[in-house]
Amino acid sequence: MKKNLIYMFSFLLVGFVLMSFNNNFQTGKYEELSKDGFKNLKILPKNISKDSLMSLMEGYNKALGVKCNHCHTMDKSSDKKHEKEIARHMIKFTNELNAKEFAPIGDQYKNAIECATCHRGSTKPMSDTKTFMESKK
Ligand code: HEC
Ligand code: HEC
Repeated sequence: MKKNLIYMFSFLLVGFVLMSFNNNFQTGKYEELSKDGFKNLKILPKNISKDSLMSLMEGYNKALGVKCNHCHTMDKSSDKKHEKEIARHMIKFTNELNAKEFAPIGDQYKNAIECATCHRGSTKPMSDTKTFMESKK
C-alpha cells in the first residue's frame, strides 16, 4: 500500500515537471514569433528571430562598409530608401544563386556567395572591378 502511494507521488511529480517544461517551451516560442515580429519583411522569413536578423544586418554593414542608415531611415520598417529595395534584390539573387547553382555542386558550396564576395567593403563593386581590370592592361 505504502509502495503504491510512493509510485503515485513520483508519477505526479514527473507529470508536473514535464508540464512546466512544456509551458516554458511554449511561452518561449510565442515570444519569438510576436515580440520580435517585424513589420515589413518581404524576402527574409517572417518569423526570423531578432538575433538572426541583427546578425544579418551587421553582416551587410561589414560587407558594404556602411552603417545601418545606408539602407534605413529611423523607422527600420520604412521603405523610403532606394538602397533598401536594391538590397532586397541582392538578398534574393544571392540566396537563389547559392540554392540553385552552388548547392548542387556540393554541400560545402551551399553558402559560397555572400554579399562580401562582390562588395568587399565597398558599395561600388562595378567601379572596383573596372579599376582592377584597367590596372591589368
Ligand atoms: C544593405 C542594406 C541594409 C543595411 C546596411 C541594413 N539593413 Fe536592415 N534591412 C535591409 C532590408 C532589405 C530589410 C528588409 C528585408 C525584407 O524585406 O525581408 C531590412 C530590415 C530590417 C529590419 C526589420 C524592419 C521591419 O520591421 O520590417 C530591422 C529592424 C533592420 N533591418 C535593422 C537594421 C539595423 C539595426 C542595421 C544596422 C546594424 C541594418 N538594418 C542595416 C537592408 C539593410
Ligand atoms: C555577384 C556580385 C554581388 C553580390 C553577391 C552582391 N552584390 Fe550588391 N551590388 C553588386 C553590384 C555590381 C552593384 C552595383 C553597384 C555599383 O557598383 O555601382 C551592387 C549594389 C548594391 C547596393 C546599392 C549600392 C549603393 O550604391 O548604395 C546595395 C545596397 C547592395 N548591393 C547590397 C547587397 C547585399 C546586402 C548583398 C548580400 C545579400 C549584395 N549586395 C550582394 C554586386 C553584388
